[in-house]
Amino acid sequence: MPDARSDTAFSARPAPVRAGGELFTEERSAEVVAASFTGTPDPRLRQVLGSLVHHLHAFVKDVELTEDEWGVAIDFLTRTGQMCSDVRQEFILLSDVLGVSMLVETINHRTGGTSTESTVLGPFHMVESPRRELGDDIALDGKGTPCLVSGQVTGPDGEPLAGAVVDVWQTNEDGFYDVQQPGIQPAGNLRGLFTADGDGRFWFRSVVPRYYPIPDDGPVGQLLAATGRHPNRPAHLHFIASAAGYRPVTTHVFVADSPYLDSDAVFGVKESLVRDVPEVDDPDRSADVGLPNPFRTLTFDLALLPEDSPEVSARPAAQPADGQPTVVRGAPS
Ligand code: BEZ
Ligand code: FE
Repeated sequence: MPDARSDTAFSARPAPVRAGGELFTEERSAEVVAASFTGTPDPRLRQVLGSLVHHLHAFVKDVELTEDEWGVAIDFLTRTGQMCSDVRQEFILLSDVLGVSMLVETINHRTGGTSTESTVLGPFHMVESPRRELGDDIALDGKGTPCLVSGQVTGPDGEPLAGAVVDVWQTNEDGFYDVQQPGIQPAGNLRGLFTADGDGRFWFRSVVPRYYPIPDDGPVGQLLAATGRHPNRPAHLHFIASAAGYRPVTTHVFVADSPYLDSDAVFGVKESLVRDVPEVDDPDRSADVGLPNPFRTLTFDLALLPEDSPEVSARPAAQPADGQPTVVRGAPS
């Protein structure tokens, strides 16, 4: 009688017959779990979940995640969810500081160099910005360095887009949006919805934007602190420009001499969006525009793509035999 624990006894045991799939092992964990999703009816959901499982399992294996670390991650994500409310979206903030928001934005708004580059929307946009007339002063609290902001909205070939709509918002001199300081700043301070003139031109009075920290009193702020990262964004003015028949662009103009231009907490800076804000010292001009002398000027032109222009795709037409995708920047689809 052979010892029941001998190799012979084990190898002689017939393999169990299973109706289902392969059992979980460390080596094949990703394949086993991904296989459980292969019956997903929606092909895109099936693709996304399969890829997610493979990358997630590769990550856990790469760092050999401990049970304590798994617990810390679950607690962090739980607190991130608990921080969310009608006016606070901590998960988007997490996506922002991990660079995922910018990556999604950039993949989905490739311009191929033909139009104004986009950047993150951020959490401080108002669905209904106050309507303003060209030339209005949006600095309702009267604080800050006076600045004339102007530009032209065009199509990709420079054709003016008469009546384009330009939505703008920025922080005040202290680095806060009006919605962060109700009762301190007037509602609608440093915001405006403008209609461009017949040449697509817009202009308004404001103040030079200032750098400011993203909300860092929650789990995302703790993540930044634990990793020695600062929470600041360089000085910028937000824009959404739109015109009938053209794709809207959500972007910022960044102030060239601002701190944090090369270390934006949310990775929003693109070289093409940085502008000087020179001083004008000219009493006649200041009287013309209705600002005290001297004042600063910020010029930002925006080019929009027609709605029906072909998508700019960085995806290769087909993957090479080794399965490694080749990224071809700006390649047409
Ligand atoms: C903002 O620019 O308003 C912003 C963007 C991302 C996260 C936080 C703030
Ligand atoms: Fe901002």
